[in-house]
Amino acid sequence: MNQLTRRKFLAGASMGAAAAAAGPWVLKARAQGGPIKIGVVLPYTGVYAVLGESITQAMELAFARENWTVAGRKIEMIKEDDEMKPPVGIRKTEKLIDSDKVDILTGPVHSGILMGMRDKVHNSKTILIVSNAGADAISRERCSKWIFRTSFSNWQPNQPMGGWVAKNVSKEAFLVAPNYQAGKDMMEAFKETYLPAGGKVVAEDYPKLGETDYAPYLTKIRQSGVKAVYCFFSGTDAVNFVKQFDQFGLKQGVKLCGAGFLTEPDVLPAQGKSALGVITGHFYTPLLENPTNQKFVKDFREKNVGKMPDGFACQGYDTAEVIIRALKAVNGNTQDKDKLVAAIAKVEFDSPRGRFRFDPKTHNVIQPFIYVREVREVYGGLNNVPIDKIADVRDPGTGCTLPA
Ligand code: BEZ
Repeated sequence: MNQLTRRKFLAGASMGAAAAAAGPWVLKARAQGGPIKIGVVLPYTGVYAVLGESITQAMELAFARENWTVAGRKIEMIKEDDEMKPPVGIRKTEKLIDSDKVDILTGPVHSGILMGMRDKVHNSKTILIVSNAGADAISRERCSKWIFRTSFSNWQPNQPMGGWVAKNVSKEAFLVAPNYQAGKDMMEAFKETYLPAGGKVVAEDYPKLGETDYAPYLTKIRQSGVKAVYCFFSGTDAVNFVKQFDQFGLKQGVKLCGAGFLTEPDVLPAQGKSALGVITGHFYTPLLENPTNQKFVKDFREKNVGKMPDGFACQGYDTAEVIIRALKAVNGNTQDKDKLVAAIAKVEFDSPRGRFRFDPKTHNVIQPFIYVREVREVYGGLNNVPIDKIADVRDPGTGCTLPA
């Protein structure tokens, strides 16, 4: 060993000895001084890429407000593209948990990816704050004390719409949604109130996620003679379905209704006037007149070259807000996970959507309102204008064993 290497070795050895002598709390405090790692599993490519982008932009807005430092610790976001493929999402989740050793995980957008991630998250006791994927099972039989959801369960924006459509639109409907868990969950939730209100489902169809040609489905809708369609589509699927529905000439005689994702501001500019008159249910619209939302819309647009925030952005903002508030409550201590879980469960604040709080039974957000919205040309553009609302919408899940 030469002089220099020997000196370095001795210095390192004496530092190690000092830390060991000081006890584990010194090591813990030192470890606590490092950055807080937030692992992000979202789609940055594929049908739902625009959703991933909105969630990320809004999280970054909230963390930037705190100068990327909370309770004296830097916030570091490690972003992974799940490419909308469950095996990729699961692999990225494993990498973030096992290699990057993230403190908190957030995402995904796709219900199937969330279901695939669930056991890894639960078994490794990693805190996951779901920022979109609505799989109902996560608030029910597959819930976990380590999982929270700031977005919605698939049930929440759809169940109130069944009764509303039966009363205000038509007692006969054609249902259509992509053929995967979110599509199935949402149509089931709609039927839960549509059927008891006297509604009849004339037919249901489930095209593949990422379908680009809806002509065979639109032909069946025309042939059925229905006066209403209820659907769920999002991202580029929503753009294609709404435009082709109009191009097919169905807009004249059939009312298009659905889950709010169908006409969110991420897709409205591409849909253009084809979206006019579409009726959807959602917990958010940028037109909400509360002061938190007005500031959020202004700040988000300033930061993102005039882009209008959508519900996905609201979810991203609320996810970051939950993280910031909980970390402050535990003074930045991410090692005591039980304490951090308890702090997250207690977080409450004024969100752009209204008062934000988790249901203690399910760890799923209670929606202050589900708004029935209609796309109208107002304030110089296409907007989702609230025309009715249903208060205090919570998933019917009864939850699992949560910490005391
Ligand atoms: C889902 O897969 O859960 C989902 C995707 C896009 C919008 C809403 C829900």
